Amino acid sequence: MEKKNLDWANLGFGYIQTEKRYVSNYKNGAWDDGAITEDANIVLNECAGVFQYAQTVFEGLKAYTTEDGHIVCFRPDLNASRLADSARRLEMPVFPEDRFIDAIQQVVEANAAYVPPYGSGATLYLRPYMMGTNPVIGVKPADEYQFRVFATPVGPYFKGGAKPITICVSDFDRAAPHGTGHIKAGLNYAMSLHAIMTAHRNGFDENMYLDPATRTKIEETGGANFIFITKDNKLVTPKSDSILPSITRRSIMYVAEHYLGMTVEHREVEFSELKDFAEAGLCGTAAVISPVGKIVNHGEEILIPSGMEEMGPTTKKLYDTLTGIQMGRIEAPEGWIKKIL
Ligand code: PLP
Ligand code: COI
Repeated sequence: MEKKNLDWANLGFGYIQTEKRYVSNYKNGAWDDGAITEDANIVLNECAGVFQYAQTVFEGLKAYTTEDGHIVCFRPDLNASRLADSARRLEMPVFPEDRFIDAIQQVVEANAAYVPPYGSGATLYLRPYMMGTNPVIGVKPADEYQFRVFATPVGPYFKGGAKPITICVSDFDRAAPHGTGHIKAGLNYAMSLHAIMTAHRNGFDENMYLDPATRTKIEETGGANFIFITKDNKLVTPKSDSILPSITRRSIMYVAEHYLGMTVEHREVEFSELKDFAEAGLCGTAAVISPVGKIVNHGEEILIPSGMEEMGPTTKKLYDTLTGIQMGRIEAPEGWIKKIL
């Protein structure tokens, strides 16, 4: 199969429309068979549930070309189950998890020409999502839904790739206790837009959200979990009911313990501990592992000892091991790699 002629090495994290996507509709209590379609547009009634009350949830995962030339996905079963959790929380029907994996398979196969070559630094980002499609005017769940998966080739989420970023403590909260912070619902991202634009206008790359109840504990950013490395080389990562259970973070915890022999602490992390860490990073499908060099809290600067030039040494080891597993250079734990082609 001939690859598309794209400038793979210089792709940013943007949308490039490809020819094929998957669609399945839910009506009268059942999902239809689903199929690949070439139509990138969705025509819905003006009163569709998604437009009125934001009844929409999504996922994000990637397809990679491995060193030996296969195309694989990383732990799509966990995206399937997280989408099911998200759907249940918004009173949407669950798209069956085995069918989710099958849809991913079909979309990646159909877009194989868009899977960036091994070593290009780019990947094929997959965006599964579902939304309420029939008219809803009283506040209630829709009766009809659409599930879709599209694909778009992407480069690094942060400009500058592996260069450490500067983040600020947000004055806005991301997710309330007992709210929806733990699911991947569009509404969590709508509310973050003003916060991220405010951060950008003030010269920061990202926000650090604190726990809304006490504003003393570190939660996450708008699109990634945090990892920290202590001076004695432990991995510390925040635990909270209102952050998204990142698949990348869960994988990094495993890699740290089982591949690198590190101690892993998944616990509440006080903001006051930040000054004691040796390294800091963001992790997620889009972010992969992006190092953080500086955190600014209302004028107070916390400089992470690993600095602003490159990733800290342990963050680098975690990055190399994780991406090595994803690209087939390092043997993966059982069940982590789904071979597509
Ligand atoms: N936190 C938020 C709010 C996110 O949107 C994402 C992205 O999916 C993550 C964390 C990272 O999760 P994952 O590693 O599963 O992509
Ligand atoms: C992902 O990492 O897949 C996400 O959905 C995060 C988003 C900010 C792009």
